[in-house]
Amino acid sequence: MERLDKILSGTGRWSRREVKDLVKAGRVTADGAVVRRPEEKFDRAATVLAVDGEPVDGEKYVYLMLHKPGGVLSATEDPKQPTVLDLLPPHLRRVGLFPVGRLDKDTEGLLLLTNDGPLGHRLLAPKKHVDKVYFVRVDGKLDQEDSAAFRAGMTLDDGLQCLPAELEVLESPDTGLVTLREGKYHQVKRMLAARGKPVLYLKRLSMGPIALDQDLAPGAWRPLTEAEREALEGLR
Ligand code: URA
Repeated sequence: MERLDKILSGTGRWSRREVKDLVKAGRVTADGAVVRRPEEKFDRAATVLAVDGEPVDGEKYVYLMLHKPGGVLSATEDPKQPTVLDLLPPHLRRVGLFPVGRLDKDTEGLLLLTNDGPLGHRLLAPKKHVDKVYFVRVDGKLDQEDSAAFRAGMTLDDGLQCLPAELEVLESPDTGLVTLREGKYHQVKRMLAARGKPVLYLKRLSMGPIALDQDLAPGAWRPLTEAEREALEGLR
């Protein structure tokens, strides 16, 4: 048996404060009967909990999209520096979330957070070839030779053999879109440094079927929608 506020806030959709308000407004039901107290306990496997008549699955896992700002680590804890978990409210820092793959401290953009270990592994497995798209600004001008080198699969100075990748040069030639199917350490920066065009700014726009929500400001997050979660299921 678990408290209603714990069950509902654990989905990532409402804070405990919001659950309290929902209950007060009579919007939460358990097997069709209005729940009066947020601390009431239920067997989540045996009870249909609903908000505004919409059943809330007793979901085991939480899936969030975060617009990672620069200056925070893609880690769950660090003794000195802020991590992406510090951007979440307290009730979501205790459910075992981890970032799916890492972005460098100064890299911005889409970061998925989940406590669904198997899904995290699938998204990162090299043989799944999940495309990651980055917007990049470099010191220099990108050109078709850079694109051709990316397409051919670059070998970096330290011997790292990169899979074929894409580089689309945008209207302003110091900017481009890079698509990678793998995620080696500092990969975009290293590939562009090898072309003599160091990265000045990097932002991840999408990962597989999930695109960064344009309405999320840096530092903001939201739960994945049903459609987004289904799209991830499609990768199984
Ligand atoms: N490539 C990089 O160099 N840095 C990132 O954060 C992601 C991809």
